[in-house]
Amino acid sequence: MPDWTLHQGDALTLLPTLNTPVDAVICDPPYNSGGRTMTERTSRTAREKYLTEGGRNHGHDLGDFTGDNRDQRSYTAWLSLVLAESYRLIRPGGAALVFTDWRQLPATTDALQAAGFTWRGVAVWHKPIARPQPGRLRQDCEFIVWGSNGAMIPGNDPVYLPGHFTGSQPRGDTRLHITQKPEDVMRQLVRIVPLDGIVLDPFAGSGTTGAAALAEGRSFIGIEQSATYAQRTRDRLATVAATLAV
Ligand SMILES: C[S@@+](CC[C@H](N)C(=O)[O-])C[C@H]1O[C@@H](n2cnc3c(N)ncnc32)[C@H](O)[C@@H]1O
Repeated sequence: MPDWTLHQGDALTLLPTLNTPVDAVICDPPYNSGGRTMTERTSRTAREKYLTEGGRNHGHDLGDFTGDNRDQRSYTAWLSLVLAESYRLIRPGGAALVFTDWRQLPATTDALQAAGFTWRGVAVWHKPIARPQPGRLRQDCEFIVWGSNGAMIPGNDPVYLPGHFTGSQPRGDTRLHITQKPEDVMRQLVRIVPLDGIVLDPFAGSGTTGAAALAEGRSFIGIEQSATYAQRTRDRLATVAATLAV
């Protein structure tokens, strides 16, 4: 039976205290993006940058989160450190999958490699309901930079995953986080880990990676800095685990 653990606090402080080997880090860091200029990116809160629906979700405010105001160079350095601490925990051949947007794509591929991973590619998350922009190319994709801890070792029952995923950010009652990822996309991604393996997410948010991992028969170790979102993750994963136990 897959299990889960959620630590509340700063990933860079907590990762060095963990010692359980894991099969992959699958994470969605604060992008430190969302603006044309450095001033826009470093002065607005995550809510101001990423919420387009007035910030409300069925009568409750979606909580803000910190850690989204680094400039370009410090973002690259910080993400490298977090991924290096994750790398320490990943078994040889295990994978790293890191979400990013177009602005932070070069920083993210640099950070992945600086952390020690072998960079293997960039997959696409296509968001079908992104709004068209007059005279411009539509910004309807985010990216998953991925790599491995050295040579990848195909098991006896290898998976064949796509390089292109389509899914809309949850809305209405199912929206739990400002920058929540679609669970069906995450359920495909966690299959890069063998059945009964362990997925690590140092930026758990509302726990989408964890919910996907449990639903796919993988265990989960998460870290989330915000107390509000850490509790949301705990509640969500407890519900998923209870459903699976029936
Ligand atoms: C992009 S969101 C993750 C959303 C998640 N994928 C979901 O579907 O709900 C990034 C999360 O990282 C958290 N965070 C920011 N800085 C952090 C840090 N230093 N350590 C741990 N978590 C952090 C934020 O509070 C935020 O919830």
